Amino acid sequence: MTPRTAPTTYRVKSFGCQMNAYDGTRMGELLAAQGLVPAAEGEEGELVVLNTCHIREKAAEKVYSDIGRLVKAGREAGKAPMIAVAGCVAQAEGEEIMARAPAVSMVVGPQAYHRLPEMLGHAVAGRRVTDTEMPAIAKFAALPERRRIAPAAFLTVQEGCDKFCTYCVVPYTRGAEISRPYVDLVREALTLVEAGAKEITLLGQNVSAWCGEDGKGRAVGLAGLIRDLAAIDGLARIRYTTSHPADMDDALIAAHGEVDKLMPFLHLPVQAGSDRVLRAMNRSHTAESYLRLLERFRAARPDIALSGDFIVGFPGETEADFAETLALVEEVGYAQAFSFKYSPRPGTPAATMDGQIAAEIMDDRLQRLQTLLNRDQYAFNRATSGKACEVLVERRGKLPGQWLGKSPWLQSVWFEGDCAIGDIVSVTLGEAGPNSLAGAIIPVS
Ligand code: SAH
Ligand code: SF4
Ligand code: F3S
Repeated sequence: MTPRTAPTTYRVKSFGCQMNAYDGTRMGELLAAQGLVPAAEGEEGELVVLNTCHIREKAAEKVYSDIGRLVKAGREAGKAPMIAVAGCVAQAEGEEIMARAPAVSMVVGPQAYHRLPEMLGHAVAGRRVTDTEMPAIAKFAALPERRRIAPAAFLTVQEGCDKFCTYCVVPYTRGAEISRPYVDLVREALTLVEAGAKEITLLGQNVSAWCGEDGKGRAVGLAGLIRDLAAIDGLARIRYTTSHPADMDDALIAAHGEVDKLMPFLHLPVQAGSDRVLRAMNRSHTAESYLRLLERFRAARPDIALSGDFIVGFPGETEADFAETLALVEEVGYAQAFSFKYSPRPGTPAATMDGQIAAEIMDDRLQRLQTLLNRDQYAFNRATSGKACEVLVERRGKLPGQWLGKSPWLQSVWFEGDCAIGDIVSVTLGEAGPNSLAGAIIPVS
């Protein structure tokens, strides 16, 4: 590659999970600290960072089509953008990307993006660079202070996964489980609140495995961290995601009953309802142990909204196995959920298992599962209609005077009235739709 002028504008496009969204925000902050400015609305930017996801096949293929589109648009405009590929595809297929996509100047893994400024220097000098090292958590210390933040902010507390579910790439792309130190998290949470955050969602591929030592040297788990963050003035709401059933402890369950700022919502992926399939997936729970766990959360916080993840068509899944997934859904009554067709990922044990399921069978099962999940989500929304609750105002709605925010149960609520982004308003939930509810602000008397 020949040397080029340094980019002055950037755009970071994040795909995949919320941890990737967090990383995307932090990469933007890092580039801004180098003097780059975000590209104007509708423009790509002179530097485009594709912050990719590798969890399913479509997600990975999308990277190459995005690169192709950027190259074509650049050619038409007579000015090719500099392209960086970050995230989990970068980690898993860095070399392949460099070989297959000559337009890419930088490939940077999820644990190495604090080195972006240095890499940018190389790229401007015309050298293509790859960094997919996994230095244990060094990046956080090297990132700039957090400034202007949306009212609902993310805070990564834990990274990586040691669970090795047989279908999943995350242990390979994100590395081993690491907890960020307690003091760093409290400091970052304080900065977020000072910068305008009213709600913080604690993130981790396995967030409930977080552990650390508090300021007094005592061992604390996620529940202890939540309790201490709840003491921050100005922070109104705390959430966390994603948990694994194996790491949920009594303290976390108790916190749901005792910490007002901890929102009544739990995302706890189950994946399947058949114990035979769960064993083949290397999930350490059974359908029964998962259901008993949810019961304990419901006992601590009766109004808790439940969410889950599901995979249909795992190798060897029979119709009878799938029926057990449907039965589990019937029993739980989820407020929302994510469901996916199994996607074989290179290098994972399940990709070479016998009994890979035909696409049409997966389509059919996904459709049947989603019919139930959608029905339950709609029912949950209707059941909350008429309730009064607080809503954090996150953005303007489509119509003039309209606002959008989230209920404590993570439902999208839209309403009209006199308020501003970042306000917490009392609302009566009204008409329920499948994906959102109308609300009416309760006048302060
Ligand atoms: N750490 C979280 C989330 C992992 S990825 C957890 O364990 O719950 C998010 C979801 O993607 C998973 O819960 C799973 O439902 C889905 N997923 C992961 N690998 C997949 C694959 N190979 N095919 C289809 N879905 C997959
Ligand atoms: Fe993947 Fe399983 Fe780890 Fe979740 S717990 S990230 S599904 S390996
Ligand atoms: Fe995707 Fe990586 Fe997250 S594979 S789901 S971006 S951890």
